[in-house]
Amino acid sequence: MKIWRIALVLLGAAAPAGKQIVLHGNSNGAMPCAACHGINGLGNAAIGAPVLAGKPAAGIVSALGHLASGQGSGPMPGIARALSPQERQGVAAYFAGLPKP
Ligand code: HEC
Repeated sequence: MKIWRIALVLLGAAAPAGKQIVLHGNSNGAMPCAACHGINGLGNAAIGAPVLAGKPAAGIVSALGHLASGQGSGPMPGIARALSPQERQGVAAYFAGLPKP
């Protein structure tokens, strides 16, 4: 199936971009996710940043969608809005691939 191959290629392209954003943010003003969620995605209880490591990518994408559409407070709505749909997929794939705590 062609579609299957295209999906694999997209996944492969998204992963490095996801890591780049997690570590360095993007040029649209998204802060590096690692600053709050940790380089290993283990979160930071002191500032209320949840664990993202090992969460299903679809759940992370959907949470970012909710945050971008105005749900939630604090830094996340602005950060989610600064990510393109492709970037959300990329960071989600990256965190999903990290080992769970
Ligand atoms: C300045 C600190 C900070 C940064 C930077 C940050 N986050 Fe967050 N994030 C939080 C906090 C605090 C919460 C919990 C409160 C909330 O959901 O708004 C959160 C919640 C989330 C959630 C919701 C998890 C859930 O299960 O509901 C996701 C997904 C998320 N962040 C992804 C990201 C991604 C991806 C990035 C990088 C592009 C990022 N965050 C950068 C602080 C941060």
